[in-house]
Amino acid sequence: MRPLIVANWKMNKTPEEAASFMEKIAKYQEEMNPNCDIAICAPFICLDICVEKSKQGRIKIGAQNCHFEKSGAFTGEISAYMLSKIGVKFTILGHSERRQYFAETSETVNLKVKSSLKSGLDVIICVGESLEQKSTAQKIIFTQLELALLGVDIADLPRICIAYEPIWAIGSNKIEWFKRSGEICMKIRSMLGEIYDSPAAASLVKILYGGSVNSSNLISVLSEPDIDGALVGNASLVSDEFLKIIECARGVKRS
Ligand code: 13P
Repeated sequence: MRPLIVANWKMNKTPEEAASFMEKIAKYQEEMNPNCDIAICAPFICLDICVEKSKQGRIKIGAQNCHFEKSGAFTGEISAYMLSKIGVKFTILGHSERRQYFAETSETVNLKVKSSLKSGLDVIICVGESLEQKSTAQKIIFTQLELALLGVDIADLPRICIAYEPIWAIGSNKIEWFKRSGEICMKIRSMLGEIYDSPAAASLVKILYGGSVNSSNLISVLSEPDIDGALVGNASLVSDEFLKIIECARGVKRS
């Protein structure tokens, strides 16, 4: 699979800052590594400008969350349907920061997955264990996956990425865990086969790794055969570093 590099800006950047980032990236459009797919998940208020600035290019713009109802009395929320109407192509769902600080559960992630797919958005479902759950990581991840994918048709799997983000690796700058993460991503593949009772399911989904990825460790991350790409937080905020990360994926050979 072609590597996929996704920026998750989290709660950073004003529309003006987002526009300036997009303009800087656009300048390198011609020379940019053609061997990977690129996406940026921007805050809601920056989506419009990012979509506008990426119109001629190959960068897909995504959200970081959505509501599962199409519309209604849900003060402060934005639906998958609304996102699809402004040119957003996908959304992250179930990020650990949403689970931790905003009471997101695998059940609500499941509702959001189904409503996003129905609205035409692809999804990145985040799974991962906390430090305390490390010894039972596989069990935790299996439950997160099984619940998030409940009722999701196997035919929709090519529109879904799974991002494995061990919570303890996010923002930690620790790089020695990629081998273990590679093994967990291999397990995630076989879990998908088990959940769908079909070995084919495993190969339909892209699996990303997230947690302290930057330009100096991306090659190690992508050298794990079951990691198809990266979900990048901090290191995606500065355009030069993000461009470097994209460039690093140039040498990665994938079938
Ligand atoms: P960092 O790259 O800052 O560790 O964040 C990872 C992450 O949470 C991406 O979704």
